[in-house]
Amino acid sequence: MLVLAHISDLHLDGSARATERAERVRDRLWGLPGRVDALLVTGDIADHGTETEYEEAARILGLHDGGAPFPVLTCPGNHDSRAPYRKALLGHPAADGPVNSVQVFDDGAVLMCDSSIPGSDDGALDEETYDWIEATLDELDGSLPTLLAFHHPPVALHHPLPDSYRLDRPDRLAALLGRRPEIAGLITGHAHTPAATAFAGRPLVVGPGVTWTLRLPWEGEQVADRDAPVGLAFHVLDDEGRLTSHFRVVM
Ligand SMILES: [Fe+2]
Ligand SMILES: [Fe+2]
Repeated sequence: MLVLAHISDLHLDGSARATERAERVRDRLWGLPGRVDALLVTGDIADHGTETEYEEAARILGLHDGGAPFPVLTCPGNHDSRAPYRKALLGHPAADGPVNSVQVFDDGAVLMCDSSIPGSDDGALDEETYDWIEATLDELDGSLPTLLAFHHPPVALHHPLPDSYRLDRPDRLAALLGRRPEIAGLITGHAHTPAATAFAGRPLVVGPGVTWTLRLPWEGEQVADRDAPVGLAFHVLDDEGRLTSHFRVVM
């Protein structure tokens, strides 16, 4: 069984407000008394994609100083920028192409996929990423239940804002899922509101936002609820590949 904490959309911009909210959820996670296998951070980590913002993210998330009590797995969102993300967040030299990574545990695997399109708010998994997913799953040989995590949801969530920037070519992703029964579910961010739905017969769970919460159309006209508390999810992937998600707010 895997227990995965999940946060999204930190939008670190150098403001005290963004820093405080990210540190608040970090403190909650680092202080948990029980076992957590990893933290997933599904994009929009920086607000403007600057090196300084990624240096702050790396500090808050304990990426370079061993401060995190479990692995912290990240993927970029539409506000992120690949070169400074690689350099300051991951500590890798700048390189071209999508930022994809895999973490293999005894009881499951998580593929963190790059759905960003440089210079655009739209989302897509490009051919290089699809090739990487297929090769990574080939290597795992169907032996472990696997989650795919990326930023942009591939379906409409029934709000005009996230629905206008969702993952392009969902049919391509659905075809992949059709060939890969080991994919137990999809985890995304981007919408700044927790949501649960299905895509191509698999659970699709959208994590809440750290920076603000999306107000749904029937909750009022103003899109961003900046007074809502920081959101956090826990995903449990059991040995049968069944995904259970829990949600918390951090006051
Ligand atoms: Fe965002
Ligand atoms: Fe986003």
